Amino acid sequence: MHDIIRQLAEKRAAARLGGGQKRIDSQHSKGKLSARERIELLLDSGSFEEWDMFKEHRCHDFGMADQSVPGDGVVIGCGTINGRLMFVFSQDFTVFGGSLSEAHAEKICKVMDHAIKVGAPVIGLNDSGGARIQEGVASLAGYADVFQRNVLASGVVPQISLIMGPCAGGAVYSPSMTDFIFMVKDSSYMFVTGPEVVKTVTHEDVTAEELGGAVTHTSKSGVADLAFENDVEALMMMRRFISFLPSNNRQKPPRLPSQDSADRLDYSLDTLVPDNTNKPYNIKELIIKVADDGDFFELQREYAKNIVIGFARMDGSTVGIVANQPLILAGCLDIKSSIKAARFVRYCDAFNIPVVTFVDVPGFMPGTAQEYGGIIKHGAKLLYAYAECTVPKITVITRKAYGGAYDVMASKHLRGDVNFAWPSAEIAVMGPKGAVEIIFREEKNDPAKLAAREAEYKEKFANPFVAGARGFIDDVIMPHETRKRICRSLAMLRDKKLENPWRKHGNIPL
Ligand code: COA
Repeated sequence: MHDIIRQLAEKRAAARLGGGQKRIDSQHSKGKLSARERIELLLDSGSFEEWDMFKEHRCHDFGMADQSVPGDGVVIGCGTINGRLMFVFSQDFTVFGGSLSEAHAEKICKVMDHAIKVGAPVIGLNDSGGARIQEGVASLAGYADVFQRNVLASGVVPQISLIMGPCAGGAVYSPSMTDFIFMVKDSSYMFVTGPEVVKTVTHEDVTAEELGGAVTHTSKSGVADLAFENDVEALMMMRRFISFLPSNNRQKPPRLPSQDSADRLDYSLDTLVPDNTNKPYNIKELIIKVADDGDFFELQREYAKNIVIGFARMDGSTVGIVANQPLILAGCLDIKSSIKAARFVRYCDAFNIPVVTFVDVPGFMPGTAQEYGGIIKHGAKLLYAYAECTVPKITVITRKAYGGAYDVMASKHLRGDVNFAWPSAEIAVMGPKGAVEIIFREEKNDPAKLAAREAEYKEKFANPFVAGARGFIDDVIMPHETRKRICRSLAMLRDKKLENPWRKHGNIPL
C-alpha cells in the first residue's frame, strides 16, 4: 500500500511540474506566473479541488505519441473566493504552449458543465498558443465544444476571462462570448490573425502589442474591460470583482453590509452641477459620493468615456451604474457608448442586479461618421436593452435630458420604476437655443426677439417640472439627498416582479 501511495505522490508531483521546471522558469522570466500559481492566488488558500490532473492527449501524429504530459496543458477544478464556489480553468503555457487539444478542451468543458449544473461562476485564465497544431480538426472541434457551452452558460452563470498570455485565432472567441474580459499589460494579447498574417494580407506593419495588447483592447476596440499591471494585481482584482456578482441567474447579488448609512446626505452635491449649463463636471464624483464607502468598480474606463458603467453597492447590495459623462463629448450618446452601456444593462438584467442611471445627455452625436456607422441601429441597442430590462430601474436626471436620448436613458416610458430629477434638470426636445432657431426661423435676423423666445423656452421647458406635472418624474429631489432616496427606492423594489411576454428570444438590433 505504501508503494502505491508513494507512486501516486510521485505522479502528482510530476503532473504539477507541467512542462518542467525550465519552462516554468522561462514563464517567470517573462513576468508571468505558472498556471497553478495563478489558481493559488485567485482562490481561497487550500480550497482548490483539481480534476483530470492525469488526463493526456490522444494524438499520434507528428511525433506526439511519445510526448504526453499529464494534464495536457490546462489545470481545472473548483474552489472558493471568500467562501463562494467558483469553477476555474487555467491554461499551462509550459505544456505545448498551452495549446488546445481535444483532451484539453474536454477538461474545460467539464468545468463549464459543472458550473451550469450547480450554478456557480466560471473563471478562465487564458495563456495559450491556440489550437494544438498537431491535432488539426480534433482541436477545432474542441474549440467549438467550448463555444457552445459559452453560449449555453451565457445569462445563466457569470463567465469571466482573464487573458494572461497569448490568445490568438480561434482561441479569442471563447473569451469574447464571456461576460467580462480582463487583460494583463505587456504580457497578454488577443487577435484573430497575428502581425505576420496582417503584413501579408493588408501590408500593415504592426506589433503584437499594437495589434492586440491590453492597451489596444481597453481603449481602441473595447474588447476588454480593464487591464492590470501584472498577474498578481489581475488575480487580486478578480477576487474583488466577483464579490459584486451573484453566482447564477436565480440568485440576488451578494450583500456586503457596510457602516455607510443609507440615509447619509452629501451637501457637496448641491454645487456639483455648474450654473452655466454648458460647463462640464465629472459624473464620477456623483457616483462615488452616493455609493457605499465610495467604492465603485468601473468597467471599460478607457473606452467610450462619454458613458460610465460599473458596479457599486448601495445599502449593502450590488447595483449596476450607468451614467452619461459630461466631461467627454458633453455626454452625448454615440455608437460606442450605446453598445457599451447596452451590453452592461443586459448583463445586470440577466443577473438580477438593479440598474441606477444618472442622466446628463444633450442627445445623440450628430455627423456622417455616426450615421454611416449605423448610430440608428447601435443607439437602438441601448433603447432595447433598457426597455427589455425587468430588474429595478432607478433614474436620476442631473441636468440635460434632451430628445430621443431622454427616452433612451431609463425614462419612465421604458418602465423606469423610480425617476428622480435634480432641480437643475432640463427635460426637453432639445436645448433652448437650437429649439428657438428652428421654431422661430423667420425671426432669425432679430437677435432681441430670438433672445426673448429663448428665455421663454428655457422658462417653460428647461426644468424638471413639466415632466413632473405629467408624472414622468416621480419627484424633484435635493442633490444632497440622492443616496438616501436611491437606497429607499431600492428597498421598496427589493421584491419587484415583472415579466416580459413569452418568446423564444427577442430580436435586438445587432
Ligand atoms: N500547437 C502546438 N504547440 C504549440 C502551439 C500550438 N498552437 N503554440 C505553441 N506551441 C509550442 C511550441 O512549439 C513550443 O514548444 P517547445 O517548447 O517544445 O519548443 C512551446 O509551445 C512554446 O512556444 P514558443 O513558440 O516557444 O513560445 P513563444 O512565447 O515564443 O511564442 C506564440 C508564443 C503563441 C506566439 C507561438 O508559439 C505561436 O505563434 N504559436 C502558434 C499560434 C497559432 O498559429 N496557433 C494556431 C491558430 S489558432
